[in-house]
Amino acid sequence: MMDLRLLRPFVVAATLAGCELAPDVGTAQIERCVNVDSDPGTSVSFSRDLYPKVIMPKCVPCHDPNSGAGGSSAGNIGFQVGGLDLTTRDAALAGGVNSAGALVTPGQPCDSLLYQKTGRSPPVGVRMPFDGPPFLTDEERGLVADWIAEGALP
Ligand code: HEC
Repeated sequence: MMDLRLLRPFVVAATLAGCELAPDVGTAQIERCVNVDSDPGTSVSFSRDLYPKVIMPKCVPCHDPNSGAGGSSAGNIGFQVGGLDLTTRDAALAGGVNSAGALVTPGQPCDSLLYQKTGRSPPVGVRMPFDGPPFLTDEERGLVADWIAEGALP
């Protein structure tokens, strides 16, 4: 008869391996969001950082009340349909059809529609940019989040 003690290492190994197995529940459906400034040492300004790096190239093509047919290939459907002008900080803060006056909650990117709309599951409408993918990179979304976390500085 086989000495059962010989099996012990295998039983222990199998048990340990079992502990490391996480149930397969697929990819996360809800993105985690935390209302913290990822880089407190660097301040993010709308005009110096956010606008030229993200808003102007990625959003203004559709969110500019002054660009109409012929102005850009996409026209300004973000302004016409979403009611949102992103060409200046004041206009952005005024919001659009769903966010009226509350596009940004200073200090709280997770609760701000501006940030939520760039993520995988926005609370209203579709993910921005409307003609994506490509959508914003993690770095670009981080800049939006930090701008809001720091109080939406000019
Ligand atoms: C190709 C055109 C297009 C581009 C580019 C685009 N948008 Fe939009 N945007 C739209 C349209 C159309 C709507 C209305 C439909 C909707 O809300 O999903 C909209 C709506 C929005 C709204 C909702 C406003 C409200 O109060 O209802 C936000 C916020 C927004 N866009 C942010 C952005 C940001 C930030 C970017 C750049 C990262 C961007 N958009 C780029 C077309 C665009």
